[in-house]
Amino acid sequence: MNVYDSARMADVLAPLGYRPTPVPDDADMVILNTCHIREKATEKVFSELGRLRGLKRKDDRGAILAVAGCVAQAEGEEILRRAPYVDMVFGPQTYHTLPEMVARAERGTGGVLNTEFPVVSKFDVLPEETGNRDVTAFLSVQEGCDKFCTFCVVPYTRGAEFSRPVRQIVDEARRLVASGAREITLLGQNVNAFHGDGPDGRVWGLGRLIRELAEIDGLARIRYTTSHPRDMDDELIAAHGSVPQLMPFLHLPVQSGSDRILAAMNRKHGADAYRAVVDRLRAARPDLALSSDFIVGFPGETDGDFAETLRLVTEIGYAQAYSFKYSARPGTPAATLEDQVPEPVKTERLAALQQLLNAQQIAFNEASVGRTLPVLLDRRGRRDGQLLGRTPHLQSVHINAMDGLYGQMADVKIEAAHANSLAGRLASDGPAPPAGTDPHPERVCA
Ligand code: 5AD
Ligand code: SF4
Repeated sequence: MNVYDSARMADVLAPLGYRPTPVPDDADMVILNTCHIREKATEKVFSELGRLRGLKRKDDRGAILAVAGCVAQAEGEEILRRAPYVDMVFGPQTYHTLPEMVARAERGTGGVLNTEFPVVSKFDVLPEETGNRDVTAFLSVQEGCDKFCTFCVVPYTRGAEFSRPVRQIVDEARRLVASGAREITLLGQNVNAFHGDGPDGRVWGLGRLIRELAEIDGLARIRYTTSHPRDMDDELIAAHGSVPQLMPFLHLPVQSGSDRILAAMNRKHGADAYRAVVDRLRAARPDLALSSDFIVGFPGETDGDFAETLRLVTEIGYAQAYSFKYSARPGTPAATLEDQVPEPVKTERLAALQQLLNAQQIAFNEASVGRTLPVLLDRRGRRDGQLLGRTPHLQSVHINAMDGLYGQMADVKIEAAHANSLAGRLASDGPAPPAGTDPHPERVCA
């Protein structure tokens, strides 16, 4: 979501004459768009600021230095205290006011701090997005969270759950497709809690929204992230079976396999409820591959609780996953629980979990070898003549192919599997059909 937000900040700043530059040394303004989810991410902000400070001193044009995002939201005053050379500090719901903030920063009367949750949604006043030329695009449909998992800062930094109106989302999706996007990932902290006002006067859930987006000509692939197991409703599960553009890959975090820990986390579901949701999803879409987030060493987690997590992972079988040591976040209920798990125990559990998850990921990738998969060629490789793309299951694939195929869907025969990517070659020797002529844009060949 920060990638999406950064692009929208660029849209807001464009009329002021700013455009993105790849190197900070050339910049008239540097915005660090930050993440507060775990302690490590937060620490990075302060070390990065220290580095950028030197840059600012050297720059006689006086570059504006800004901190945006959730660290700004949570620790705005602390940032201005520890790094008084920072010109602007603003939270994720305020970046539509960048022109005013820039004007104030240019007057140089001290650091501008804006961590409001404004009444007017930024989405109602942001300019139309410009300059998307990417084959894959992000689109924010929902923000914030009302779940209050006891370990998580998101409800405090991103604020209450909010869904954009359907018409606004569909218009943005159409513009993205018109400017070249063939795949859109719908974003939200709790994306499947989406409940946007529909054009028919009713409230639409994510499943209904996805069916609507699937009507857009030229949009070959739809994904969404990140979901909560509790919000996987019938309509959304059904969409996995009935909408061919909806890719058979789902990031569905479970965090732990222990009911006791899930309750202490306030996840509002047990391990069996998660298994049941996965079963229903797989019944709707048998080739669905899953990904998840896991936290090890949540306060009070015993060896037995952790064994339950390993058991769940073994049963479900993940194509990919993210796992973290529990990190106490200021202001969250779990941070003050007694029974914090010692660091060496967390380290040991994380290693054991990652070993299992990595083995599953490698096995999943190896099972692709010999198959022909539809790959959306969405990136250029480092070498000339090399293109990179993604399978329906979000695996990265390298192929040798002429640049003319960039942005196209191609059938690729998978020849090798690595831990994090696949390698293959075009299934046909002849040129792939031009965009839009493939009658089965998402067929998966056995
Ligand atoms: N400690 C460790 N991991 C966390 N996550 C969120 N908060 C914490 C925390 N305090 C992880 C969860 C979540 C992902 C985005 O980050 O697994 O799903
Ligand atoms: Fe955080 Fe996700 Fe829980 Fe919301 S549902 S509080 S974003 S972990």
